[in-house]
Amino acid sequence: MAAAAAATPSSSSVRLVLLYLLGFCAAVSQAIDSCRESKLAVSDLVPFDTASFRCISAWKDEDFILRYKNTAPSEWSFILSAPDKGSFVAVGFSGKGLMVGSSAVVGWAPHGKGTVKQYYLGGKSQDEVSPNTGLLKLVKNKAVVVSHSDRLYLAFQILTDYPQPHLIYAVGPENDLPSSDGQLPVHRNMFSQRFNYTSGIAYKTTGALDGGFPRQRQHGLLSMMGWGVLLPIGMITARYFRQLDPWWFYGHMAIQATAYVLGLAAVVLGFRINSAGIKNVDIHKALGIGILVMSTLQVMAILARPDKTSKVRRFWNWYHHNIGRAAILLAIGNVFLGLSIAQEVNAYIVSYGVFAAVWVLAVAAFEVKRCYADDD
Ligand SMILES: *[C@@H]1O[C@H](CO)[C@@H](O)[C@H](O)[C@H]1NC(C)=O
Repeated sequence: MAAAAAATPSSSSVRLVLLYLLGFCAAVSQAIDSCRESKLAVSDLVPFDTASFRCISAWKDEDFILRYKNTAPSEWSFILSAPDKGSFVAVGFSGKGLMVGSSAVVGWAPHGKGTVKQYYLGGKSQDEVSPNTGLLKLVKNKAVVVSHSDRLYLAFQILTDYPQPHLIYAVGPENDLPSSDGQLPVHRNMFSQRFNYTSGIAYKTTGALDGGFPRQRQHGLLSMMGWGVLLPIGMITARYFRQLDPWWFYGHMAIQATAYVLGLAAVVLGFRINSAGIKNVDIHKALGIGILVMSTLQVMAILARPDKTSKVRRFWNWYHHNIGRAAILLAIGNVFLGLSIAQEVNAYIVSYGVFAAVWVLAVAAFEVKRCYADDD
């Protein structure tokens, strides 16, 4: 009897521990969703058949899981699953991986009451992202957001032959839901990837496309400064400031050398940008290589410069001046082409446009002045 009495409290504490463990496991397993689950936890709550969807661990940092299927001709169905931290979750579709210009499906669920809205991301500021806009053809009454075991499930269907190749994910600040009119708080984190829906392979888009300083912008600014601004200024120095001998020469050398170094860095960066499937990018690349080749020839020509008194000096001058002019004209054109490819904000296009216009006017004025000076 004494033995049995002693066993009772210990076995009950074992039971208690086991219960705790079981409860803990249940709590943990409930908050977890993974592509290994054979059946979607909320399949009963989603207004379309979710059987045999493909599943990818889309964004590991934020534990976003994306399930999708081409459920009918021109109909694609998606279910995004993410931890429910009192924030909105979003998945956007974009042709080029840029947040601006993409359309996103956004969902949130305070106290289990879900809201799904589509947004067009017209710009980076909050007032350029308005609810119930966007270019996705969402199937009516098939978009829901369900909160289940600490996860949000955002389910929707879109009508398209093939969804756009870049997926952009975003998550809002914790415990800060969109206002009742649907205005979103600024996202806490975002991520974009190029995605092949056929193979199920996601490619990380290098450089976040929002915030920070993405490689595209670095490439753009370096090209603009090097090829687009310094090169034309260096030409003005050499052509119109000859009276400041020998300073025009040192100025010209220093400016063009800086332009060349910046431009070379821009070309190197440019080749590291993922440009698959972007319109006009081949022309942009070809022009960029052409400008680099011409500039390299110019640098080499300096080394092979014949003496001022030499007879071939006139030919050398003709060659150096004309290759230089051609490179500058191509560079200015290519900066504009690059800005249009990047769908860059107007401020950049206008700023560079103003520079190019001032440069053209200055060159015209200097040329007129030169003509008169020659006549004297
Ligand atoms: C996507 O993957 C499929 C199958 O692997 C392949 O045939 C197709 O070319 C890929 N598409 C792109 C745009 O890479």
